[in-house]
Amino acid sequence: MLISNRKTFALTVATLCSTLALAVTHAARADEPAAAAASPLMVKAAGAPDMSQAEFDSSKEIYFQRCAGCHGVLRKGATGKPLTPDITQSRGQPFLEALITYGSPAGMPNWGTSNALTKDQITSMAKFIQHTPPTPPEWGMAETLKTWKVLVKPEDRPKKQLSKLNLPNLFSVTLRDDGKIALIDGDSKKIVKLIETGYAVHISRISASGRYLLVIGRDARIDMIDLWPVEPTKVAEVKVGIEARSVETSKFKGYEDKYTVAGSYWPPQFTIMDGETLEPKQIVSTRGMTVDKQEYHPEPRSSPPTNGRSSSSTSRKPARSCWSITRTSKTSPSPTSMPRRSCMTAVGTARTATS
Ligand code: HEC
Repeated sequence: MLISNRKTFALTVATLCSTLALAVTHAARADEPAAAAASPLMVKAAGAPDMSQAEFDSSKEIYFQRCAGCHGVLRKGATGKPLTPDITQSRGQPFLEALITYGSPAGMPNWGTSNALTKDQITSMAKFIQHTPPTPPEWGMAETLKTWKVLVKPEDRPKKQLSKLNLPNLFSVTLRDDGKIALIDGDSKKIVKLIETGYAVHISRISASGRYLLVIGRDARIDMIDLWPVEPTKVAEVKVGIEARSVETSKFKGYEDKYTVAGSYWPPQFTIMDGETLEPKQIVSTRGMTVDKQEYHPEPRSSPPTNGRSSSSTSRKPARSCWSITRTSKTSPSPTSMPRRSCMTAVGTARTATS
């Protein structure tokens, strides 16, 4: 443990630097002189079908809520393919509409045939992704709170394990394209339960006590599952950003299950939550100066926080710095930034992997 001789809760958040530039521009608006004759509410971009401002805004909202987790906030691709105008415009409107409607066996959900989106919404989405990607929205406390749900209050949860599951041998398996996890009993290899989660779950983590399972989708939705009731039950849910990869719980002695922390890729920040309810307590931005050249970086993605035994930090892009955060029950977290090499040594179990 990082700070083993102090009664503090220690977390390490690796801040990853991405090469993505934030130089995104808004699509040219009709109030610019060249298009002044058209409707003042049209959004235009070279090579893309015109859209009304209202259509553009609602598509933007759908994109950041439902597509960005897989295709990336700047549409440069992640689990899903890149959707930048150079690619989407050459695909054309009918192809894009068909793909969004029917999905594909390679992991694109079928938004039309599942009735998740209407025909009009799909037409607009196909147009929208041929336009220049707009600046992704921020996600502060107000947005986080709006998504926070406690489904079973702590006082209504069992006081001891009622399920017959052998918890140390229970597997949480990501069903990536289904937006679910499968709990599989390692002894019998049987599926115990399928649970709906965010899109393409990236990490499943067990709390210090072994009682709670936390899973986070690429869309930054966290689901907290209580493994003690007769049947595993979802007890809380929250969305901590637009794109994320990792969640972890406090494991330090005296602080078991007290806090949960999740790092977001967009916005670049991490959120500290109550460990029993996921109530968001504090959001800390990771934007700022790089450790080496002391240059401002607008998008230092906050990724797998690691904490104590048995957790590891995996990243796809090299981490340039880590923050060691100590938090007592009363004070705000006080991050200490250090170069990646020192934090890898300090954490011990942390390692980078190419995945
Ligand atoms: C669960 C992850 C996931 C989500 C969520 C998702 N996609 Fe996809 N999408 C994919 C994958 C994976 C592919 C690649 C499919 C293939 O190659 O057949 C893809 C492909 C596409 C393509 C075709 C790209 C091409 O050049 O062939 C389009 C268009 C697209 N997605 C649009 C969207 C839109 C719009 C949304 C939101 C409404 C969305 N996707 C949400 C995973 C996702």
